[in-house]
Amino acid sequence: MSSNQFEQKSQAWSALFSEPMSDLVKRYTASVAFDQRLWRADIAASLAHADMLAAQGIIGADDYAAIERGMAQISTEIESAAFVWQLDLEDVHLNIEARLTQLVGPAGKRLHTGRSRNDQVATDLRLWLRSEIDAITQLLRELQSALLEVAQHHTEVILPGFTHLQVAQPVSFAHHLLAYVEMFARDAERLSEVRRRTNQLPLGSAALAGTTYLLDRERVARRLGMVDEQGRPQLCQNSLDAVSDRDFAIEFCAAASLCMVHVSRLSEELILWMSQNFDFIKIADRFTTGSSIMPQKKNPDVPELARGKTGRVFGHLMGLLTLMKAQPLAYNKDNQEDKEPLFDTVDTLKDTLRIFAEMIGGQTDPASGQKQGGITVNAQAMQDAASKGYATATDLADYLVKKGLPFRDAHETVAHAVKAASAHRCDLSELPLAVLQGFDARIEKDVYDCLSLRGSLHARNTLGGTAPAQVRAQIERHRSRLAAAAHVATI
Ligand code: ARG
Repeated sequence: MSSNQFEQKSQAWSALFSEPMSDLVKRYTASVAFDQRLWRADIAASLAHADMLAAQGIIGADDYAAIERGMAQISTEIESAAFVWQLDLEDVHLNIEARLTQLVGPAGKRLHTGRSRNDQVATDLRLWLRSEIDAITQLLRELQSALLEVAQHHTEVILPGFTHLQVAQPVSFAHHLLAYVEMFARDAERLSEVRRRTNQLPLGSAALAGTTYLLDRERVARRLGMVDEQGRPQLCQNSLDAVSDRDFAIEFCAAASLCMVHVSRLSEELILWMSQNFDFIKIADRFTTGSSIMPQKKNPDVPELARGKTGRVFGHLMGLLTLMKAQPLAYNKDNQEDKEPLFDTVDTLKDTLRIFAEMIGGQTDPASGQKQGGITVNAQAMQDAASKGYATATDLADYLVKKGLPFRDAHETVAHAVKAASAHRCDLSELPLAVLQGFDARIEKDVYDCLSLRGSLHARNTLGGTAPAQVRAQIERHRSRLAAAAHVATI
């Protein structure tokens, strides 16, 4: 690159300065090393701005044509890694603008008319985050589909449902997985709300007060797709607010944190289920690692790391909240610190969701079209675990209630039955009828139907319950919800 660009830099904020910046200050204040990933958004926003300037007669049509041509070349250069990013040019905005001027001359210098880096960076960040939210939403759909696929094959597989990590009542493995589908569905919903507030245009706010040029902000918004469902342009309505607040990034990190909470809970369960003491599932070897000293080990590194990375995402949320909290209006350079936490949150969440979808649902083999990998379920171990711990005690109480006993009395009676079974080291279903009748004369032979795990499972047949009929209906509901969402996403 010629020295031209360096001249450009010193001109970016006038000839007022009498001494050059020290290298340390340059390095300290520059953001180009990390904000260059905003380049696509930066070019798209610049083109929308230039198109509008030309349409309003603020720059010539020839200027706009030159800017378009220059930006096309810059895109090619950046894509092919031929573009030389310069620390001296501080950030992605000044780097691209300087190169544009180098390529197309005076038209490049006209681009910044009626604009400031303050409304430019706010616009870029919103555009960038919008497309990342779309990518994350898609990954959330894939993870939900993976969970549904495993669930579909396990509506009759019983495992102990826990409260306080004590065996509570039998549930199906499918039902358990569907709990996570609900969580990830809410995460996607939250993200769509964040997207709506992110998709609003700051450009036109200039440095902080608006601009003296007759800009057509609606035209810019339309071109950038910053419109609502009815196609109405969405504009930030106060210039001070538009250049200074980063609440859209903060609420994204809050939604990402909640999503990671859900991933982390799932991770914790996968880790428990994989331990020898449970032995409920296996995950494919490629998601585990061995130990350098203990040859028998297969460690669940992927879920453990996901659980660990959750902390880092929470940290970014706290970082951004703190970054914002005491800033006077309007823009302050503090805001340059918004990018790395936001970028890392996006990267961490995307990688985590991608790897989880694959670890749970497997990967489609391109040759056969079949899913490979994914989790393997040890139905027998799950069932054996559910058979310990008197998981059907509530069913016995319900049975007595249906025979006319008040629930509190039934609860007490069953506690005695559990004590007896425990003394005999057997399950409730293994107590002879005569023994059971000793606790309440109303008990008959049909009691064994409700004491079995299967009977207990099928009996919970209210909406939201674990009965296979309910769970199958939920799987169908989720499937059509996801299909409808995929349809919306493609139109
Ligand atoms: N790199 C800056 C940022 O990320 C761009 C805005 C700079 N504006 C300014 N007035 N210095 O926030």
